[in-house]
Amino acid sequence: MAAVALPDWLEPQALINGNWVPARDGSCFAVVNPATQQVIAQVAECGAGETAAAIGAASNAQADWARRPAKDQALLLRRWFDLVMAHQEPLAQLLTLEQGKPLAEARGEIAYGASYIEWFAEEAKRIYGDTIPAPGADKRIITLKQPVGVVACITPWNFPNAMLARKIAPALAAGCTVVCKPANETPLSAFALAHLAQQAGIPDGVINVLCGKTEEIGRALTSSTEVRKLTFTGSTRVGKLLAADCAATMKRTTMELGGNAPFIVFADADIDAAVAGAVASKYRNAGQTCICANRILVEDEIYDEFAAKLTHQAEAFVLGHGSDEQVTMGPLIHQGAAAKVADLLSDAVAQGARLKHGCGPSELGSGFVEPGVLIDVTPQMRITQEEIFGPVAPLLRFSSEAEAIDLANATQAGLAAYFYTADAARMVRVAEALEYGIVGINEGIVSNEMAPFGGIKESGNGREGSRYGLDDYLEIKYLCIGGIGSA
Ligand code: SIN
Repeated sequence: MAAVALPDWLEPQALINGNWVPARDGSCFAVVNPATQQVIAQVAECGAGETAAAIGAASNAQADWARRPAKDQALLLRRWFDLVMAHQEPLAQLLTLEQGKPLAEARGEIAYGASYIEWFAEEAKRIYGDTIPAPGADKRIITLKQPVGVVACITPWNFPNAMLARKIAPALAAGCTVVCKPANETPLSAFALAHLAQQAGIPDGVINVLCGKTEEIGRALTSSTEVRKLTFTGSTRVGKLLAADCAATMKRTTMELGGNAPFIVFADADIDAAVAGAVASKYRNAGQTCICANRILVEDEIYDEFAAKLTHQAEAFVLGHGSDEQVTMGPLIHQGAAAKVADLLSDAVAQGARLKHGCGPSELGSGFVEPGVLIDVTPQMRITQEEIFGPVAPLLRFSSEAEAIDLANATQAGLAAYFYTADAARMVRVAEALEYGIVGINEGIVSNEMAPFGGIKESGNGREGSRYGLDDYLEIKYLCIGGIGSA
């Protein structure tokens, strides 16, 4: 396994108004490779002062950026997309280095993130208003769609490239400028993305990026009257705090928060397809996605067969350092994440669940968790109520469609749900009954730039991607033109 060096063009500082700058007091924090615990970079540790400067830069750049013809904005976004894809390999290596996921998944994430830039480059040219029939002959009604203004983007460590691209691209396509706060665990991928945006010719101040004192930066962003919108991907707990802070200035928010995805397998389903879908959904990114199957509900008649087949697939994973090409599952982001999985497991086992495979201590280090399958799980166990964010598949039983739906909906989360069945009428019934923003039907991978990604209930609000993804960055202005009369 070759050691990966940081690209020589990467500057682990803050990007403010087109300049890469250190923290004002010169302080730095360490970014660590989760596979080896080695420090890979010292990054500028910014706080409220740097955030105010970044907001000022975004605010100054906003009017000029919004005034640019849509075709120009689209061209710059397209150039950015081309550069990201031209650098797919070094970006993927960097991502694996700081996040831990296997290189194949990292390459996939770079393409996934880039797909949002490409999509919104195209959508930038299709922001239309309306003309609306007016209530009187001397009036006309027209609507304009205008950029919200400066947008704060706060992104997580599980997809350090794609979650940021999914926010910056629609913001820029709508004519907004951004101040981005990527996760402190994985800032390098964000810096690399911003560097390529500069290379593409996106003007100074349109994209600003900084990390460091998370709460201080967060408060500076939420309290600013210049920031008109906040978009956040992360935990429900933090999302609620941010939303409450945004209320004081009535900022718009897009909140892509935690999930607790049910994955239902009916007895009439193609079991092998359901196993493949469960593997793809559950073990992607070592279980660290908010749409990972969190509770696998299997109908009684096929429970044992499904459990055996899923276990067989779990056994086939190769756990190790993501930069080793043979590896198919990397470490969790840090030891705390592994400790949480262990805690949920011991609660479940104490209440009668049995581990069919995995989850034991790994000689690779304490951040590594072997992919596991847990059977005899009941809805009373914490593992079914909390987001696991690790590679454990808890299997519950059900014996009727109504019971499966009740179990699936018995949560305040409402992001993604999945079900497998061969019955066409059931597909419609169950899809309509599930209280979720995203439903995979005979499909375990639901993320792509063309579809609206987002949840209901405590999984948040707003949609990312698709034609709906622009709406979150646009205000509708209604013009009432009176006194028109007749000729
Ligand atoms: C997430 O885990 O927040 C996003 C997952 C995805 O985009 O597929």
